[in-house]
Amino acid sequence: MYIEDVSQYDGQSVTVRGWLVNRRSSGKIHFLQIRDGSGFLQAVVSKAAVGAEAFGRADHLSQESAIIVHGTVRADSRAPGGYELDVSGLEVVSQAHDFPITPKEHGVDFLMDRRHLWIRAARQQAVLRIRHEVIDAVRHYFNSQGFVLADTPIFTPSACEGTTTLFPVQYFDDATAYLTQSGQLYNEANAMALGRVYCFGPTFRAEKSKTRRHLTEFWMVEPEVAYANLDDIIALAEGLVTAVIARVLDARGRELKALERDTSTLEKITKPFARVSYDDAVRILREKGLPFEWGGDFGSPDETALSEHFAGPVCVTGYPTAIKAFYFKPQDGRPEVSLSVDVLAPEGYGEIIGGGQRIDDLDLLVRRIEEHHLPKEAYEWYLDLRRYGSVPHAGFGMGIERVVAWICGLEHLREAIPYPRMLYRLYP
Ligand code: 4AD
Ligand code: MG
Repeated sequence: MYIEDVSQYDGQSVTVRGWLVNRRSSGKIHFLQIRDGSGFLQAVVSKAAVGAEAFGRADHLSQESAIIVHGTVRADSRAPGGYELDVSGLEVVSQAHDFPITPKEHGVDFLMDRRHLWIRAARQQAVLRIRHEVIDAVRHYFNSQGFVLADTPIFTPSACEGTTTLFPVQYFDDATAYLTQSGQLYNEANAMALGRVYCFGPTFRAEKSKTRRHLTEFWMVEPEVAYANLDDIIALAEGLVTAVIARVLDARGRELKALERDTSTLEKITKPFARVSYDDAVRILREKGLPFEWGGDFGSPDETALSEHFAGPVCVTGYPTAIKAFYFKPQDGRPEVSLSVDVLAPEGYGEIIGGGQRIDDLDLLVRRIEEHHLPKEAYEWYLDLRRYGSVPHAGFGMGIERVVAWICGLEHLREAIPYPRMLYRLYP
C-alpha cells in the first residue's frame, strides 16, 4: 500500500515500505511515524501484537531508518490523516545513524548544505508536490489548446536576454557556447513552422544579485504564437495562471494546508487581471511617495507596491523600449514604448511572467542588434525569420519557481526547486 491510498484499505491488512520519521514510546506501546514518499502514517506497535523481539527492535530504531511494516489499517478520527496502522510485523531494511536534520530548528545554511536530506521533510515534500502539479497543469493547459512542445537548445551561440548574465562554456577546442537564458529566439523559429508552440526547460542567468527572487538556474515555460499580438498573449497568460491556480487548489489542498498557506487570496483570482500601463504605474508609484522616474525598471519594492495597489495579479504593459531586450517591437507612433507585458503576482511575489510582441521588420531588427552591440553573424538565422514570411508574433516566459513560491507562500525561491543554484550555492 502507498500511504496516500490508505482510505481504500480500512480494515485490511497491508504492507508499508518506508522510513521512520519519529518515534514515541509509552512503555507497552511504540508510536512510529512512518513516511513512504506518498504520505505520513502513524503505526502503533504493541508487544502483545509483534512479540518481545520485534518490540525491542522498534525501541532502538533511529530517525530515517528504512523499515517495512505489516499491519491492519484502522480508521481513527484523532489521527492526522484519519487512519492508523496496527502493526503485526516489522522488518528493518537499514538502520540510519545520527540523521543530521532533527525536529529542532536548524539554520537555513545548515539545511541548504543538506538539501539532499532536507527534501525528506514534510514541508519540503509538500512544496515539491505542488511544483509537480504546477508543471503538469502548465503542460496540460498548452497541450489542450493546440500548442506543440518544441524543445530549444541549452548550448547556444548567442545571448537572448542581454550579455551581462551569460554563463560561458568551453565548447570543444575553439568555440564558446553560452547556457541558454531563454528559448525564445528558437521558439520564434518553431512558431513560424508549427504556429503555436512552447518550450519548457532549464534556463540560466549569471545573476550576481543575492535576492530571494533570483536563481542562476531556473525553469521557464515559454509559449510563442504566430499571428498573435500583445493582447492575444496577455489573454493567454491570464488563462495559464488561472488554470494553474485552479488545478493546485483542486488537487493539492492537503499540501497547501501542510504549508499553512492562506488560500483565500488564491481562490479570489479570476481573469481578466487588472491592467495598467507603465506610464500609469509610474504615476501610482509617485503618488505612493516612491521616488520613481519614467524610464527606470521596477525594483522589488516598486513591484510589491503595485501589486498591493491592485490586490490580484496585475499586467503592466508598455515598458520603455530602452530597458527591454533587443527583440521587443516598439509601439506605433511612440517608439520609446515597447509592446511588452509583465505579470506581477500579488502578495509581494513580483514578476512571474515577462513577454511581448516581437519585431517583425528586418531592417529595424538589424538596427536593434547593432544598437545592442550584438554580433550580427550569430543572429543571421534569427534574421531569416524576417526574410522569409515574417508575420506579427508574440509570446512570453513564466518562471516556474516564482509561481511555485507564490502559490506555496514561500519566502525565498530556493525552496521552490529541489536543488537551487544561486550565487553562493552550487552544493549539493
Ligand atoms: O522576463 P524574462 O527575462 O523574459 C524572457 O526571458 C523572455 N525571453 C521570455 C519570452 O518572452 N519567451 O524572464 C521570464 C520569467 C520572469 O518573469 C520570471 O518569472 C522568470 O522568468 N525569471 C527568473 N526566475 C528565477 N530566477 C531568475 N533569475 C529569473 N529571471 C527570470
Ligand atoms: Mg522580465
